[in-house]
Amino acid sequence: MKLNVEQREFVEELLEKMTLEEKVGQLNLDSPSIVGGFDVPFEELIEMVTDGRMSQEEFGKIMATAERDFHEDDIRAGMVGAIMGNDPVKANELQKIAVEETRLGIPLLMGFDVIHGLRSVYPIAIAEAGSFDDDLMERTAKMAAKESRAYGINWNFAPMLDVARDSRWGRVSEGPGEDPYLASNFARAKIKGLQNNTESTENYVAACTKHYVAYSACEAGRDYNTTSMSTSQLYNVYLPPFKAAMEEGACSAMASFNDLNGVPCTVNSYTLRDILKDKFGLEGFVVSDANGIRECVTHGVAEDDGDAGIKALNAGLDMDMGTRIFYNHIAQAVKDGKILMETLDDAVRRILSVKVWLGLFENPYVSKAVIDEYAKALPKEHKDLCLEAAEKSIVLLKNENGILPLGKERKFTLVGELADRADEVVGAWSLGWEIDDCVSVKQGLEEAGAQFEYYPVCGPESDIDENELRAAIESDSEIVIAVVGEYKSMSGEASSKADITLPGNQQKMLKKLVAAGKQVIAVLMNGRPLALGWEAENLPAIIEGWHLGIQMGNAIAKVMFGECNPSGKLSSTFSSVNGQEPMYYNHPNTGRPGSKSKFTSKYLDAPVEPCFPFGFGLSYTTFEYSNLKVDENGDEISVSVMLKNAGNYDGTEVAQLYMQDVTASLVRPVKELKGYKRVTLKKGESSRIDFTLRKCDMGFYDNQGKYTLEDGLFRIYVGGNSKDVLDTEISVSFRNGEVK
Ligand code: BGC
Repeated sequence: MKLNVEQREFVEELLEKMTLEEKVGQLNLDSPSIVGGFDVPFEELIEMVTDGRMSQEEFGKIMATAERDFHEDDIRAGMVGAIMGNDPVKANELQKIAVEETRLGIPLLMGFDVIHGLRSVYPIAIAEAGSFDDDLMERTAKMAAKESRAYGINWNFAPMLDVARDSRWGRVSEGPGEDPYLASNFARAKIKGLQNNTESTENYVAACTKHYVAYSACEAGRDYNTTSMSTSQLYNVYLPPFKAAMEEGACSAMASFNDLNGVPCTVNSYTLRDILKDKFGLEGFVVSDANGIRECVTHGVAEDDGDAGIKALNAGLDMDMGTRIFYNHIAQAVKDGKILMETLDDAVRRILSVKVWLGLFENPYVSKAVIDEYAKALPKEHKDLCLEAAEKSIVLLKNENGILPLGKERKFTLVGELADRADEVVGAWSLGWEIDDCVSVKQGLEEAGAQFEYYPVCGPESDIDENELRAAIESDSEIVIAVVGEYKSMSGEASSKADITLPGNQQKMLKKLVAAGKQVIAVLMNGRPLALGWEAENLPAIIEGWHLGIQMGNAIAKVMFGECNPSGKLSSTFSSVNGQEPMYYNHPNTGRPGSKSKFTSKYLDAPVEPCFPFGFGLSYTTFEYSNLKVDENGDEISVSVMLKNAGNYDGTEVAQLYMQDVTASLVRPVKELKGYKRVTLKKGESSRIDFTLRKCDMGFYDNQGKYTLEDGLFRIYVGGNSKDVLDTEISVSFRNGEVK
């Protein structure tokens, strides 16, 4: 986001004209309150979904039709700067009030969670990051931006950039996985896709990077839990994607719910002011997460709402999501001298700047033509892009004896309730999808002309239907495709799990099918890395399908029959058993690396190695790496390797470059991703792959948050995943600080 001189002047002139109350109004993000349209009190509805009396689905349906109060009078009174919603007609009505009926005619920001698409839902972020395709990540964001504008949304609560290392945390599904380098590229691609297409206001939105910061480091993977870490870990692991997003000009950030080293991120001036605004240069604003300001009282760092509001604004939080604490307390606090006018002005300036940059003053409405166009069937190019993203995100985890791809004439039995759940393909945090757009795995297979009988047998929460199981066992096909995994409500916010093996009776179902002599191919549908020890050992083939979005069924069918050769890789490590979590490839070295011998860092009852490492993913062909070479080239290290497609299919490989700083002043990770390339090779073809590793990227942050480059030996690795790699070494000098 960059404003030109006239735009800056416009903001300043507006600010000059504003009363204290009007300024405070800009800091208020409201969400329409639910006021009726159901038989029981709203609080009881919440209790009912929480204790399981009502399913998430039923709750969702009620919410979709609930009567809401959009706070029209408050907007008219200048009390609201931003509002949530995704209805373009309503958005126009509210915008009209703000523009035509308030004294200064300042338009509203319309915020919404468009995490992995709105109506055109593409794969959840943890899956899409596994495509290792930055261009794809940008294109899906561009589609989401355009679609958002058509639904009246001009501010997306995305991208979610939490580097997540503990798969018990339900929100791993929303983010780009466990690696800071991949997450930073994801961040850049998403900001470009959402924000850069500025030639028409119909094409771009303001991004909101979240959750700032270290939210994913919650102890034991339990959502909202406390986090504590060293400065170097904060800088090396959790901050990089936010830094990258700010370098791309991200418009805003959302402060996370957690405390970091004892200070809730909502009132944390070190992370908000010192780092995000002063160091990383955020020009836009910071919004709290929902109810975040009030929760500072519960955290126990503020006496009451007013105290929390003052602490938050002074710390650098600019907008209040959902509590109205800023609206109710800040004007008085300014009068009492507890907040300086310049602090308030700074917050308002930032918010107005984003509104100006969005073109809202000239073009606040969604045109009728756009509303009508988007009310029709999904455009083909949206479906195509969702399909491409789904295909590239699928990870083939196991394929014994080349059992896949299947010939289309091969009969099989399909089991698993999830196979027939078109409503589940969209994953957590998908809020704009329509069921008619969603293709279940069963439907995808049918449309591909597959020959199968279907018995649901069991789902993530149900008992095994013994009759259906018997029928599946008695059917004469030797091959069973089992679609198993998690409901979308099992990941996302407030969905941490202590047990991340296949939920319910699904593994029991698989065991019975295997015991009956079936060749069971698992298609996983899940929002988090699952602990797959048993499945990896006992099933001949496993396809990681995640929640792939509206085209899931078609993408799975294409992979199943070899029309698409899988190329996705894991953006997160998969454990074998629960107790290995948190498990991630780029862990710091220990003095006693885990091995067979007794006194090493490991569990007695779990393997040292993960079930599937970061970056892992098979293809129907095989790729061979050879001839790794490194050379010093001025301020760069040139790395090259020969890659051969040695199998029987054309295919695409994600070649990955890792490094290890062998000796440093702080303990460094055993490996760090530093580059990747998607390379397509015909069968039998070979190609040289070149990477450039800039010396300035070979350093790390110390415990003062200072970036340091230390001379010495570096190990360089290249391979198709973080474990199976070629390696070599190079001694690097940064010439006494000359390399920057
Ligand atoms: C979530 C955010 C989300 C916000 C608004 C919160 O509960 O943590 O990720 O953007 O709600 O919907």
